Amino acid sequence: MRPMTSIGKRLSKWILQKKGDRGLPIASRLTISFLAIIILSSLIFTIVGVNIISARVISEAQERVRTDLNAADFIYSDTLDHVSEAARFTASRLFLKDMLNGNITQEYVNELVRFKLSETLDVLTITDSNGIVVFRASSNNVGDDQSRDEIVNTVLHKLLPASGITIVPASVLQLESPGLAEQAHILFVDTPMARPRPETEETNGLMLKSACPVFDDNGKLIGIVYAGLLLNRNYSIVDEVKQTVFQGSVYKGRDIGTATIFQDDVRISTNVSNKDGSRAIGTRVAQDVYQQVVVKGQPYLGRAFVVNDWYISAYEPIRGFSGKIIGILYVGLLEKKYLDVKNQTILTFSGITLSGVILSIIMTILISRNISSSIKRLVTASKQLANGNLDAKVSKTSNDELGELADTFNLMATSLKDRDDQIKEFAKKKIMESERLALIGQLSANVAHDLNNPLQGIVTYSYLLLEDASFSSEVKENLQKIIVQANRCRDIIRGLLDFSRQKKPDKTLCNVNGLLQGCIALVEKQAQFQNIQVTVNLDKNMPMVILDPSQVERVFLNLIINAAEAMEGSGQLTLSTQYKRAGDSVEIMIQDTGPGINEENMEKIFEPFFTTKETGHGVGLGLAISYGIVKEHNGNIAVESVLGKGTSFTISFPLVQGANGAENGN
Ligand SMILES: Nc1ncnc2c1ncn2[C@@H]1O[C@H](COP(=O)(O)OP(=O)(O)O)[C@@H](O)[C@H]1O
Ligand SMILES: [Mg+2]
Repeated sequence: MRPMTSIGKRLSKWILQKKGDRGLPIASRLTISFLAIIILSSLIFTIVGVNIISARVISEAQERVRTDLNAADFIYSDTLDHVSEAARFTASRLFLKDMLNGNITQEYVNELVRFKLSETLDVLTITDSNGIVVFRASSNNVGDDQSRDEIVNTVLHKLLPASGITIVPASVLQLESPGLAEQAHILFVDTPMARPRPETEETNGLMLKSACPVFDDNGKLIGIVYAGLLLNRNYSIVDEVKQTVFQGSVYKGRDIGTATIFQDDVRISTNVSNKDGSRAIGTRVAQDVYQQVVVKGQPYLGRAFVVNDWYISAYEPIRGFSGKIIGILYVGLLEKKYLDVKNQTILTFSGITLSGVILSIIMTILISRNISSSIKRLVTASKQLANGNLDAKVSKTSNDELGELADTFNLMATSLKDRDDQIKEFAKKKIMESERLALIGQLSANVAHDLNNPLQGIVTYSYLLLEDASFSSEVKENLQKIIVQANRCRDIIRGLLDFSRQKKPDKTLCNVNGLLQGCIALVEKQAQFQNIQVTVNLDKNMPMVILDPSQVERVFLNLIINAAEAMEGSGQLTLSTQYKRAGDSVEIMIQDTGPGINEENMEKIFEPFFTTKETGHGVGLGLAISYGIVKEHNGNIAVESVLGKGTSFTISFPLVQGANGAENGN
């Protein structure tokens, strides 16, 4: 499997790149991303959860089986104790000495047969001090030598009771009782996974056996009593395990708990059943279990396939009297029950996760659809806006960020519309203004031109009349007035012509500070300036600027005279210059402390013929001409005014002028 991050990267890349450049719609991308996260986390959640559950369920079952095996062990040793107790009790009976002396009465026989029955023993046998059988409660065979039996032999030598589990050969079983030989005889049943064996049957028996010495009054060994319980086909131990440990519980018609005693690898006592319900006697243990338990002598815990079902199993070696491993004790829990519990839990778990996933999917789709429709509406409105429909609006459907976005969009559309209206209005005004200015200019030029010649005539003829001595001084005075007024008219006309002609400036390198100082020197001595305090603040670092000096001088004079006129002879005039390095320009400021300009007039002061002065004092061309000159120099003229405080005009000239500027040189 690829690492998770690489899959995540590829997925997000795919989500972002799908459908070429434009990519998937945000809603789909959100949905896919969410789904990927939800499904991935649910998957991890489920896998981890299921693993934890199964590990828990199975480990619990295994833990249980381990304790069950101990219980089985206990029941098994308990049974052995019972056999030894029976042997010991018999050996202690008084009539036994009599019997060993050869006095075997029917009464004694009856008593021993009854005892064997009541104690459910398979074997109760008495030998003499050499191990030769003198009495059998299970058959009439006597006289055979049992001294080579490992348990009997031990008692003969150690003169102490001995007991344990032991393999009893078929011949001995036959002697003890033909029925026992029959009971021990087991034909092998073919079992998958069992280890291969050449034999096909088991004729020997596995027996819990206990022997006890019998002494005479002098403490001399006179015989041995041994008792035995054949385990082959004896189901008391395994069924007791089933009953006491598993309470005989059944799952779907099958015993949950099972127990088995193996002789070597063959089931000789078990409640594991075949398909037909019969006990699986003769079947054999799986090879790997045999290897671990019998060959290596270690317990085996884990899953095991037993006859035809899986069991959670525990196997333990059975050690014979000599310590050699001769069989296996087994307990097992039907795995199916635990698997079903596990599966049910997993199913419930997955069900919950799946419902969570489905719910999340529905939620995601609903939310993203909502987002998507909001965004679509915004996109549509934006397109309308882009196409010039400034009335486009989006309806607000939620109070979240998208709602806020809709609000912002609407606000933007509204202010765009306002701006648009303002610009339109402004443009209209500007067009009208420039048209008017052009018209006025044209008109002035015509009028001025037409008036110039007649005025010239008036002046000339007035001078001629003046020279005529026949006129009285009174007439001459009037003639003088005519000349003055006519000259005034000529001045106005010259101004008009200047204004309308738009003379090209004759530019040269100029010292702006010097120009300004020259202007002051020119006007300072005039009566108008007697009571005006002039302050000059000149920037010492002013660079030389390419300008038409006479035109610029005219601008300065216009502004200075305007200031003086506004202050009506008294006040403060401040002239300053400044080099604006950042803007690569120079600035000239002319400030007065006059009455200021009201808002209404502010819009008109640069118009030709706008004046607030009495007739004969101003023609209203000064600022219009100044404006024209400054613009001709690619400069700018700005005005700031506070009513009652004063007015300040600021002229700025760029250092580097355009194509019609410095390089032209004209
Ligand atoms: N410094 C100033 N203070 C107040 N008003 C001013 C000033 N300069 C110009 N104005 C106003 O601008 C008008 C136009 O000025 P201008 O074009 O020079 O014409 P004129 O001086 O002949 O009136 C003036 O009549 C005056 O009302
Ligand atoms: Mg003026």
